[in-house]
Amino acid sequence: MISSVHEFDRYADVRAALADPHLVPPPAESGPVGGMAWLRATVARFSSGDTHARRRALVEADLARLDPLVLRKAIALDPDDDARRASVRALADALAVPEPDAVVEAITIVAGAYFGDAHDTAADQAVAKLLTLMLPTDSGDDSALEAAANRIGLLVQACDATGNLIDHARRAAGGCPAGHDIETLLVETLRHDPPVRATRRMAIRDTRVAGVDIAEGELIILAVAAANRDPEVFTAPDTFELERSGPPSLTFGSPPRVCPGRDHAMAIAAGALSRDPDAPIADDRTSTGSPS
Ligand code: HEM
Repeated sequence: MISSVHEFDRYADVRAALADPHLVPPPAESGPVGGMAWLRATVARFSSGDTHARRRALVEADLARLDPLVLRKAIALDPDDDARRASVRALADALAVPEPDAVVEAITIVAGAYFGDAHDTAADQAVAKLLTLMLPTDSGDDSALEAAANRIGLLVQACDATGNLIDHARRAAGGCPAGHDIETLLVETLRHDPPVRATRRMAIRDTRVAGVDIAEGELIILAVAAANRDPEVFTAPDTFELERSGPPSLTFGSPPRVCPGRDHAMAIAAGALSRDPDAPIADDRTSTGSPS
């Protein structure tokens, strides 16, 4: 039972909360294998402790097989104008999943329900379909199920966040002078108009952040979008300004749960933007660099 909700919106406070080991993502309640509740309860994103470490290692192993430069080139050649679908397709193809079109379709459905609690029959059916495709036919043991869930989780995490980054950067590009590079545009878009605006934590033990006592079981909202415009950290924070100095935005999170797909997201977004005929963007180096 959650008794109180705290909200942090200053850069230093959000960072401190992200670093606090007593604050974890609110755990997800499981359900039947192959459904949405099961997926949420089996992925790294909503896990903590040793279970989180084991699941995150599965994700990192999958990501290590994916060369960001290959993703960047693949999406640059994809004629699909839908940034979500194209982002997931680049990853699904690189992971060599069976029936990539069906996977893309199902992932976009699951992504719409992933951060909500409401029961969603279409999302349940999409998870069931994805599990059939991702699970090797001869293995249904717990570790195979966990690996399949975390591969689905990787694609779901990438879907809306990367798609929104591409859409927001396309919007921002219209107001920018010609000749800037894609990296710079993406980094400032991540700060000024982040595709992920907030994240949640729950206290698993009494703790204290920024002078605020937080009791076990209490919920915390971390307002990343507001923290990215903290005037104590960013000058003229509401202005979209290429070539800013200062610390990185908090849009990809912060250790220990910093987004493991950061370089892949940057590469996919850069590739998508590079094919826009009207964008006043000079295609830059082949770097996939992170926003720091
Ligand atoms: C612009 C695009 C993206 C943004 C802004 C983003 C942001 C984030 C953030 C903030 C978290 C941590 C959430 C928290 O601590 O509460 C996270 C986790 C995660 N992201 Fe991303 N992400 C993006 C793209 C991707 C991509 C492309 C992938 C995979 C290819 C990915 C995979 C993951 C996974 C698996 C997690 C869970 C990690 C864990 O809990 O240990 N993300 N992402």
